[in-house]
Amino acid sequence: MQTPPSGLLEAPLPADYPQPEALVFGQILGPYLVHAHHDGEHWHTPQLSPRAEAPLPMASGGLQYGFSVFEGLKAYRDPQQQIQLFRPRDHARRLANSAQRLAMPVPDEELFLQLCQRAVQVHARYVPPHGRGALYLRPTLFAEEEGLGFRVARRHGLSVAVTPCCDPPQKTIRLWAETELVRAAPGGMGEAKTGGNYAAGILGLQRARARGYDDVVWLDARQHRQLGEAGTMNIFVQIGHELITPPLDGTILPGITRDSLIRLLRAEGMSVLEHDLSLDELVAAQMAGQLGTAFGVGTAARLVQISEIAEAGRSIGFSDTGLAARAYTALKQVQEGSSHALREWRVAVPTA
Ligand SMILES: Cc1ncc(COP(=O)(O)O)c(C=O)c1O
Repeated sequence: MQTPPSGLLEAPLPADYPQPEALVFGQILGPYLVHAHHDGEHWHTPQLSPRAEAPLPMASGGLQYGFSVFEGLKAYRDPQQQIQLFRPRDHARRLANSAQRLAMPVPDEELFLQLCQRAVQVHARYVPPHGRGALYLRPTLFAEEEGLGFRVARRHGLSVAVTPCCDPPQKTIRLWAETELVRAAPGGMGEAKTGGNYAAGILGLQRARARGYDDVVWLDARQHRQLGEAGTMNIFVQIGHELITPPLDGTILPGITRDSLIRLLRAEGMSVLEHDLSLDELVAAQMAGQLGTAFGVGTAARLVQISEIAEAGRSIGFSDTGLAARAYTALKQVQEGSSHALREWRVAVPTA
């Protein structure tokens, strides 16, 4: 890693920096970017620069054609206030899969880890104390070469931006099932974490909000019956003694939180199944008195309970069986290192 210019080492906090509990997700951005370039053959030595100076070439493939894939992961302080990244190697692998889908150069795990660790080190003061929040990292790989021809770009960048966030509150949301618009279809790029999927989804979110719902739930592209995922979360539904989550069929994001929950809850003896689940099955389970809790999970929100999924003409209500709160706590403990379980999921950030 190239030595940063003096004065760039540890970013100071602005004078009006709020308490962690008052941090609004994504609003305060760390002042530096850590980035590496790929020249068509090799990755170059990572560098650190002020975020405000980062160029965004208007005629780049990143902007014009959406050649951009990204990750979202968090760094937490453990009870000893040591900073740990949560499952960074899994995020590196998912970024590699997203990059392959968009014919972009694949950064290796070590480069990804090095950039993330450096981004945390220079923003160490932005990492909230243990239990009170996290530093969210946004590694983004994008085509930065200028030129309007539609082809695989020769020059790419991989940059890590950061934003501090509060500990997500345990809350309950209502979802609107989108039966007209489609976020992703089989063979498309729904499982890649790329801006195009969010562009495809924003109108659905706006439509759900206009109806008074908190978020959209995407359904299968052909018949609009099978549950997919919410705007930025994977979904779990409890039916009887089982917890069901839609399968990774290529149309939804393979969430790291989804995977963490599956493993944590199975380790507690719970039956967690990955299979198709339709709105009709939810209605049938409700009528049979079998429908329990539902929740959405993701890095930003951690876990939010779902009280209702509605579509035109009908509404499915979920009850609170206590499972969501239990799962939230189990996940928080592992992410923040207050439980020794699954230590291999946490990778320490060495002090600079
Ligand atoms: C579309 C979508 N699905 C699911 C998730 C959850 O993924 P993860 O748990 O890796 O954050 C996210 C969050 O990034 C998302 O944007």
